[in-house]
Amino acid sequence: MALLSILCYPDPRLHTVAKPVTAVDARVRLLVSDMLQTMYEASGIGLAATQVDVHERLIVVDVSQERDQPLVLINPELVWTSPGKRLNEEGCLSVPGIYDGVERFDAVHVRALDAQGKSRVIEACDLLAVCVQHEMDHLLGKVFVEYLSPLKRNRIKTKMLKARREDVR
Ligand code: NI
Repeated sequence: MALLSILCYPDPRLHTVAKPVTAVDARVRLLVSDMLQTMYEASGIGLAATQVDVHERLIVVDVSQERDQPLVLINPELVWTSPGKRLNEEGCLSVPGIYDGVERFDAVHVRALDAQGKSRVIEACDLLAVCVQHEMDHLLGKVFVEYLSPLKRNRIKTKMLKARREDVR
């Protein structure tokens, strides 16, 4: 297993649209275990392959308190969304230190393959629903700050670029 490096907003690679995973093979299972390790190491609750510069439809999630309920969703598709939406505060490992409100469906049902390549439907509500919608956006090349006003987004962009320059120094 290996820790992967996470792309930071506003890296243009975060806007790549991911392609479907064609086979759940040894390569994909290794990517899954590396992504899980990377997510846990970074204390995140979700990570999309896009964020580690792999542009395939794969996300990992764990919203449990104990950090022992990993969920692997390969080629996830929304099959049902609740009528209601709710505003939730979100953050992202690709936009460290930034938290803001985004409207998401209260609940979603997602069909996906697991790490064994088995198709299943996950019924997600609350934090899991928010997290899955956030990660699925990454696969479409969308970062949560794009839901915010242009003013806020530009302020975040400037802050991220400044932080990166200070890192290099
Ligand atoms: Ni994110």
